[in-house]
Amino acid sequence: MAQRSRVTLPQLQAMKERGERITMVTAYDYPSSLLADRAGMDMILVGDSLGMVVLGYSSTVPVTMDEMIHHTKAVVRANPAALVVADLPFLSYQTSVPDAVYNAGRLIKEGGADAVKLEGGQAVVPMVRAIVNAGIPVMGHLGLTPQSAVQLGGFRVQGRSEAEGEKIAADAAALVEAGVFALVLECVPADLARRITAALPVPTIGIGAGPDCDGQVLVYHDLLGLFDRFRPKFVKQYANLAEAAVAALEKYRDEVRQGKFPDQEHSFK
Ligand code: KIV
Repeated sequence: MAQRSRVTLPQLQAMKERGERITMVTAYDYPSSLLADRAGMDMILVGDSLGMVVLGYSSTVPVTMDEMIHHTKAVVRANPAALVVADLPFLSYQTSVPDAVYNAGRLIKEGGADAVKLEGGQAVVPMVRAIVNAGIPVMGHLGLTPQSAVQLGGFRVQGRSEAEGEKIAADAAALVEAGVFALVLECVPADLARRITAALPVPTIGIGAGPDCDGQVLVYHDLLGLFDRFRPKFVKQYANLAEAAVAALEKYRDEVRQGKFPDQEHSFK
C-alpha cells in the first residue's frame, strides 16, 4: 500500500471547506493504531474511553495522566499518518490553567500526540486559550461529556430543549474563539449539530450527533464489536470480532484437549 503523508490541521480545515467528510476512530495501542491507519483514517483519538473498553473501569473518571501517556505512546509507535489526538483525563485540566497547560504538554512531549482534546464549554475557555498559546492544538468536546456524566443526569442526549441547545451553541462559539481547531459533538439532536456545524468555521466531529457534522468518530471496540457490556443507540457495529475471537479460542481449546494441536505442520523436525 502506498505510504500516506501525515494529515495536517490545514488539511482538516480544507476538508471542511470542501465539504469532504473527516474520519476519526479511537485507538489505544500499537495494533489498533496500525489497523486504524491502514484503513485510512484522517484522525486517531486516544480517548479516555480506554478506561472503559480497555482497562475495565465503569466510567472514564478514574483514568490517569500516566495511563493516557502509556497508551498514547503505544498508538504513536505505529507511526500513523492520521493526526493523533489524545484526551486530557478527568482532573488533569479542570483544576487550573497551569495544570491544563502542563498536562497537555505531557501528552505531546511524553506521549507523542499531535493534539489534545478536553471536555466542556465556557468553564474551560481559559484552559483552552492557554494550551493553544503554548503551541498545542486543542479539540473541544461538547454535548454528552462523559467525565461529567453524573452532573448531566447520566448518559443521555444533551441539548434537547431550546435553552440547552442555545447553551451548547454558545459554548461552541466560545471554544472556537479560544482557539480550538475542531469540536466533538456527542449525543446531541441532529438539528442542533447541523446548526452548530453550519455556524462554526472549524470542523465538527459527531458521535451520536446525526449526519450533518463535518466528520464522525466512533470507539474502536464499539464499531468492531469487541465490547458488548452496553451499546449506545448511535453505535453502528461493523463487525462482531468478539464472537469471532471466542469461536477461535474455543477451537484452539478443543484441539489442544483432543491432541490435534500442535500437529506435524506446526512442529520442528
Ligand atoms: O474517549 C472517547 O473515546 C471520546 C469519544 C467518544 C469522542 O471522547
